[in-house]
Amino acid sequence: MKYLWISVICCVILTEISRCQAANLTFPSNFSIGAATASYQIEGAWNTSDKGENVWDWFTHNYPDSIADGSNGDVACDSYNQYEVDVALLKNMGVDFYRFSISWSRVLPNGFANEVSEDGIQYYKNLSQLLIANDIEPVVTLYHWDHPEILEELGGWTNELMVTWYADYARIIFEELGPYVKRFITINEPTSYCLNGYNATRFAPAKILENMGHYICIHNTLKAHATAYHIYDDEFRATQNGEVGLVAYCRGWVSGDNVTDETIEQYFLFNCGWVVHPIFAGDYPEIMKTRIANISALEGYPFSRLPEFSDDWVEYINGTADFFGLNYYTSRLPVFDSDEDLGIYTIDSGVIENVNSSWSVGASDWLYVVPEGLGNLLQMIRDTYSNPPVWIMENGYSDEGESDDYDRISYYYDHLSVVLSAINDDGCNIEGYTIWSLLDNFEWADGYTKLFGVHQVDFDSSNRTRSTKLSATWWQDVLSTRELQAVPTANSTRR
Ligand SMILES: *[C@@H]1O[C@H](CO)[C@@H](O)[C@H](O)[C@H]1NC(C)=O
Ligand SMILES: *[C@@H]1O[C@H](CO)[C@@H](O)[C@H](O)[C@H]1NC(C)=O
Ligand SMILES: *[C@@H]1O[C@H](CO)[C@@H](O)[C@H](O)[C@H]1NC(C)=O
Ligand SMILES: *[C@@H]1O[C@H](CO)[C@@H](O)[C@H](O)[C@H]1NC(C)=O
Ligand SMILES: *[C@@H]1O[C@H](CO)[C@@H](O)[C@H](O)[C@H]1NC(C)=O
Ligand SMILES: *[C@@H]1O[C@H](CO)[C@@H](O)[C@H](O)[C@H]1NC(C)=O
Ligand SMILES: *[C@@H]1O[C@H](CO)[C@@H](O)[C@H](O)[C@H]1NC(C)=O
Ligand SMILES: *[C@@H]1O[C@H](CO)[C@@H](O)[C@H](O)[C@H]1NC(C)=O
Ligand SMILES: *[C@@H]1O[C@H](CO)[C@@H](O)[C@H](O)[C@H]1NC(C)=O
Ligand SMILES: *[C@@H]1O[C@H](CO)[C@@H](O)[C@H](O)[C@H]1NC(C)=O
Ligand SMILES: *[C@@H]1O[C@H](CO)[C@@H](O)[C@H](O)[C@H]1NC(C)=O
Repeated sequence: MKYLWISVICCVILTEISRCQAANLTFPSNFSIGAATASYQIEGAWNTSDKGENVWDWFTHNYPDSIADGSNGDVACDSYNQYEVDVALLKNMGVDFYRFSISWSRVLPNGFANEVSEDGIQYYKNLSQLLIANDIEPVVTLYHWDHPEILEELGGWTNELMVTWYADYARIIFEELGPYVKRFITINEPTSYCLNGYNATRFAPAKILENMGHYICIHNTLKAHATAYHIYDDEFRATQNGEVGLVAYCRGWVSGDNVTDETIEQYFLFNCGWVVHPIFAGDYPEIMKTRIANISALEGYPFSRLPEFSDDWVEYINGTADFFGLNYYTSRLPVFDSDEDLGIYTIDSGVIENVNSSWSVGASDWLYVVPEGLGNLLQMIRDTYSNPPVWIMENGYSDEGESDDYDRISYYYDHLSVVLSAINDDGCNIEGYTIWSLLDNFEWADGYTKLFGVHQVDFDSSNRTRSTKLSATWWQDVLSTRELQAVPTANSTRR
């Protein structure tokens, strides 16, 4: 039962909801709290100045039917023009840092490092400087899924040359923004774009590639990440003295029927370890290598669909993170696929993701609300990777945009309770937490139909007028007191 410690939180039943309550509601004085966004989801200005086309421009313009409301990020929150308003909102909330991402094709209009856009670079310098002037630390993601379309025409993340193209881009960002930025995220959620974009058509570039595009995509992504990390180490760390890491999307789990230590470990290694094991332990997890090799052989391939790293690459990638970046939203009940008892292998991981029908769910159909799952995941990270410094780089809840967003506040309360227990009771080394998201924004294939913001954006107004939701006001109290605040109750009959 090593991984199934019920963390020291008591989940009390409050009227109709169960609430997880940490014993100590005060955040450590050195704990950082910030808010996040991503370039394609908020910037707009898709063809302003010399910006080049990126894969999301291409995807939304050519396949509008792939987006729930047929929309795109052409204007989005117009943050390219409204960044001063965004900084004022951040200042008003009292956050310690703002995590934003760089649009690769805004900085390198034709994808490569032979031409750098002055306006593109200046925009991110302006934003970083304004944040610093307001005592808000800029935290920069180099890649949040919007690579230049020309690179995709050359194969994108399935072409190993992407490693060099990405590294050239990273060097320019470190050089230009490193004087202002002390925390860089190389790449956001590799499994999201590799699975949804290279083994499905939900995300750009919408390619289905023989049930192996996602493995090749992750393989090249990890090489690109490690190359950028080494560039920072070799060329910038001595003068800039910042930190560099990658952000993984990992799901959690809770116990239930047929959920065993073995199913949990296998789930964790396939779901999260796929990306983080090479960085924190060296190479893909053993179970991934053997299972995928075996299944590939059964399918008649003369090689494993999971590519192999040479010893040199294993060593080069191992240890390339100054912190463990984690995006957490939801959990599942991992159980073994019973078809395997009949010799039928249809799922590489061998694990099915069940849900408990009593779990509540956000507007996004995948967003089951399971705060205890985050606690279990944090303990697994602590135990598997020698308690690395963890930065929760995204956590949040989707609804349909209501301004009295009680359910969002409940979600934050319950997850922060778990984070506090993990720190105080379980000895997890968690250094930061990030609200997803500062603003309602373009939610990928869901368009503007599922909204995660603590601020509303009027997508019908020409200047995309922002307004404060109840959750932003709640966060303001949490941030000024550095203490978890009670969830306000609606006077309505909503709950
Ligand atoms: C609660 O946690 C804070 C921050 O870690 C700590 O300073 C404080 O002493 C704790 N309070 C109690 C009663 O344990
Ligand atoms: C930019 O794109 C918009 C459509 O979003 C179009 O109306 C406009 O003409 C384009 N501007 C330029 C300079 O190409
Ligand atoms: C950067 O800030 C300067 C000074 O406020 C402004 O003139 C310029 O337009 C800004 N550039 C961009 C790209 O936002
Ligand atoms: C990749 O897509 C195939 C169907 O095209 C599916 O069977 C497989 O489960 C997917 N792989 C993953 C890891 O999701
Ligand atoms: C679902 O959750 C409820 C409430 O926590 C629990 O009683 C039940 O056993 C769970 N069911 C499964 C299948 O895990
Ligand atoms: C648990 O496993 C048994 C035996 O394989 C199966 O009959 C049962 O449906 C499973 N329950 C769940 C919730 O998966
Ligand atoms: C990865 O690095 C760690 C720490 O230096 C080391 O203990 C481990 O053996 C390395 N893993 C591999 C596969 O080389
Ligand atoms: C892979 O196949 C080998 C040889 O058949 C077998 O010994 C091993 O248990 C299999 N591993 C997994 C994880 O299925
Ligand atoms: C915060 O302080 C605690 C207790 O002194 C320490 O263990 C932890 O490493 C510090 N965290 C950061 C981010 O400095
Ligand atoms: C945005 O436009 C509205 C009316 O269209 C106006 O009331 C508001 O002041 C404008 N906001 C900004 C920041 O320009
Ligand atoms: C609930 O009602 C009380 C008393 O009428 C009022 O003071 C409070 O502002 C209301 N709260 C909300 C969230 O509407």
